[in-house]
Amino acid sequence: MSFPTLRAFRALFDADDRACFCADGHAPALADSRSNVSWRSARLARAASVAAALSLTAVLTAGFVAAPVADAKTPQPKAALDASAVAVPDRYAADTAQQIFAAGGNAVDAAVAISFTLAVTYPDAGNIGGGGFMTLYVDGKPYFLDYRETAPQRATRDMYLDEKGNVIPGLSLVGHRAVAVPGTVAGMWEAQKRFGKLKWKQVLAPAIKYATDGFTVDAWLQQRRDLAAKGFAGKTNFDAYFSNLKTGVVFRQPELAQTLSRIAADGGREFYEGQTADLIAKQMYGHGLITKTDLVQYKAVWRQPLAADWNGYRIVTAPPPSSGGIGLIQMLKMKADLKPQFDGLALNSEPYIHLIAQIEDRVFADRQQYMGDPDSYRVPVDRLIDDAYLAKRVEEITPDEVLGAASVKPGLGDSMPEKAQTTHFSVVDKWGNAVSNTYTLNGPFGSGVVVDGGGFVLNDEMDDFEAKAGVPNQSGVTSGDANTIAPNRRPLSSMTPTILLKDGKVSLVIGTPGASRILTTIFQVMTNLYDFNMPPADALAAMRFHHQLLPQKTIYYEPYQPIDGDLAAQLKARGYTLQGQTFNGDVQMIRIDGTTPQPAADPRGAGVGRVIQ
Ligand code: DON
Repeated sequence: MSFPTLRAFRALFDADDRACFCADGHAPALADSRSNVSWRSARLARAASVAAALSLTAVLTAGFVAAPVADAKTPQPKAALDASAVAVPDRYAADTAQQIFAAGGNAVDAAVAISFTLAVTYPDAGNIGGGGFMTLYVDGKPYFLDYRETAPQRATRDMYLDEKGNVIPGLSLVGHRAVAVPGTVAGMWEAQKRFGKLKWKQVLAPAIKYATDGFTVDAWLQQRRDLAAKGFAGKTNFDAYFSNLKTGVVFRQPELAQTLSRIAADGGREFYEGQTADLIAKQMYGHGLITKTDLVQYKAVWRQPLAADWNGYRIVTAPPPSSGGIGLIQMLKMKADLKPQFDGLALNSEPYIHLIAQIEDRVFADRQQYMGDPDSYRVPVDRLIDDAYLAKRVEEITPDEVLGAASVKPGLGDSMPEKAQTTHFSVVDKWGNAVSNTYTLNGPFGSGVVVDGGGFVLNDEMDDFEAKAGVPNQSGVTSGDANTIAPNRRPLSSMTPTILLKDGKVSLVIGTPGASRILTTIFQVMTNLYDFNMPPADALAAMRFHHQLLPQKTIYYEPYQPIDGDLAAQLKARGYTLQGQTFNGDVQMIRIDGTTPQPAADPRGAGVGRVIQ
């Protein structure tokens, strides 16, 4: 859809609840004073608008109302695809997307609505108290939105060390001090304001309905809750809000419904400047570091997406503060460079796994040395994905040698089982727009701290910083000076929401949770699709493994398809240690075949792929 057409749609809706738009229909690149203007005027009309939101909720409680988005005279943009489609981690999110598309929304409206819905129905990873990344392709142009959390202003480099300089176990994972300033609401507000067609209130309505009316808890969610609750017991107020998350129960979240209604009525800045901000600051007071000033100053950032050519496709993916995009491109290019060695090797055979592990050693060596928040550290992005650099890197790889951390160094010069939770969803609309979104609380249910009166959990994203040189975080990865704790800094991430283009059209939308496993998972699924020509379902179902430099010579396998028998024996004979892990991704992807979207959800999870006419 062209921007003039988008403008025509917007004109119908913008008057009451939006910031002004630039002449070309774009909101400013960074959140700026305009959103504050919008917020302040909204605050003046507060009483009326909250009442309006609540009455809207009441209407929606009776069933989502599909609002018309254009009158008969509005020119309809030409459809690029046969249908819209989503791949999402639960069925509630799929239903939300269906409602949003029925109301005339585009992929960005659907993505924002899905993300608020998952904050209600997938509360261990879906969130408003965390952060994430969104890669978009809208009207033929790529965009990247960074709504990663930031360290609070009072954060200090050694805040997780005791007087002897040792890391205090758990302090960056559980409780108030683990929490970084949340970015999700600012991100959703920015994305919808810039590209959405529907009213902001419309995209929040399905989430408010699920929070008000409740949703039915499945056994898997209860299992995840029970596990998390053990870690929070006696340390946080988690159980006061989530003890009733039991199989078969219709779980209602009235405080969360009110929070979402305030955000719906007053706009995204309400979370950072309004009553919700007050509730967060109150929750933190005396226990954590976040203040109202941290919240007021938080901004989501539009960044240049990372892009590279590979195998006839254009990859559009996550730049720093993600390490994922760089790592994914490095792996794909190094594998292509090693074509003669890979030729004839069966997928996931012993020599195949060995070669991939050697590639991964190099990726993670570079990750730990060179990557961090690009606003405070110059990440040598171009050099790290440069063809000549990577061609030189693969020259070090010899088929007969098991390399480990001791010998693999960063290339430009000088564990443990995974504790989930993050989630990913992919969306395309019939106009050919796409959204790839990964967002997270970091650990399951984040820090376990619930905002009293707000009804939502806060993240434990501070664990993604380097607490002490050489000490791995919960994903078992170390990082360097580029990722030390400093006020306002964004912690290094592995989230890699990715879009592949072919001749300027969307060909694949893909992403997954899994922390450091994210990039190796996406790499494996893309390899299955494009190097082994597997259909999407097979590409997802194939066995996956993980290797990341540290611990040395360790190959992780998954319960879904363990490495055993001859393969295990061969890898051990080569010198590898095999280690099980509980989790190896939950990929949600959409492949486009001609003009037909083919959504596919990972068989490891409870995701749903749905084509929406
Ligand atoms: O940003 C990151 O890389 C991590 N906080 C993501 C954590 C994660 O994916 C855990 N979920 N499975």
